[in-house]
Amino acid sequence: MSAQPGAGPVIETVGLRRTFKGRGGTVEAVAGVDLSVAAGDIFGFLGPNGAGKTTTLRILATLLPPTAGTACVAGFDVAREAREVRTRIGYVAQSGGSYRESTGREELVIQGRLFGMSKADAGVRAVEILEALDLAEAADRTCATYSGGMRRRLNIGIGMVHRPALLFLDEPTTGLDPQARARLWEEIRKLRETGTTVFLTTHYLEEADALCDRLAIIDHSRIVAEGSPTELKHEISGDVLTIGVNGHGDEVVKLLAAQPFVREAGMEDGLVRLFVDRGEEAVPAVLRLLDAKGLAPSTMNLHRPSLDDVFLKKTGRSLRESAA
Ligand SMILES: Nc1ncnc2c1ncn2[C@@H]1O[C@H](COP(=O)(O)OP(=O)(O)OP(=O)(O)O)[C@@H](O)[C@H]1O
Ligand SMILES: [Mg+2]
Repeated sequence: MSAQPGAGPVIETVGLRRTFKGRGGTVEAVAGVDLSVAAGDIFGFLGPNGAGKTTTLRILATLLPPTAGTACVAGFDVAREAREVRTRIGYVAQSGGSYRESTGREELVIQGRLFGMSKADAGVRAVEILEALDLAEAADRTCATYSGGMRRRLNIGIGMVHRPALLFLDEPTTGLDPQARARLWEEIRKLRETGTTVFLTTHYLEEADALCDRLAIIDHSRIVAEGSPTELKHEISGDVLTIGVNGHGDEVVKLLAAQPFVREAGMEDGLVRLFVDRGEEAVPAVLRLLDAKGLAPSTMNLHRPSLDDVFLKKTGRSLRESAA
């Protein structure tokens, strides 16, 4: 395995386990996790509170030894080659750090110095990051005056100072308003453009769907599903297309039921209802078929299963509801 982009997984775990012993007995926080993350991806780790996300992340970042199993990060074993791993990763902990009376620029320079940069180099790097994260104007204000979104962006910047190939972000957008969240997604996508692999945890379905190239869903310490958001949703049931055809229902059902791309066709509430594998291919095909018969649909509605439908199918509960 290699750390070069495109040359193999940048994270690979086999049978990863972590237990904690406490007064109440033993807690199995991570119970046999197998993961493979490709270089250059934004990989999401989606799961409810207490699922084992942070514990997994801390193991991958060498902050916590696994009880059993192995994890390779950037080509190095987290247990035996922790120093090699550490120089190649950035880690931004859940809910950020507490801030003293330092400015954003000072925080970045201190971090650069911790990674062995000269004062001058750390200063140059701080300016680069402040500009990339649109914090230049606030660079010399104390962090205490930053908004929640600005603090999260600064935290990501602190994790990027030493140009890691891989950045771990533990719930980077939890508690932010929708605008600040969308803003942060843009910054994370920019990181991917520069070739950085991003491994983030979230319990927001929309975030996993909109931002991640691939994701693993974790529940009760185990991975219950893995794939791209689209793959996971297709696994569920395909897409549902409903069509209003102004009284031509029977004719249209007969026509469409005979098409190879239609799994099932029927009428419901006066609308034709089709189950198809891929809605984006079915819509133009249906329009062409209706057009050839001189029929124009009055309405057309494509429903795609959501990641919550995926979570529900895999766990028997709704993530939206268990988060509420
Ligand atoms: N140091 C610890 N000692 C004992 N139990 C722990 C410790 N750290 C985590 N746990 C337990 O392990 C389980 C997984 O916790 P973890 O923090 O990994 O979950 P999480 O998915 O990050 O949750 P959240 O979404 O709330 O951040 C929980 O039951 C938690 O109480
Ligand atoms: Mg956590």
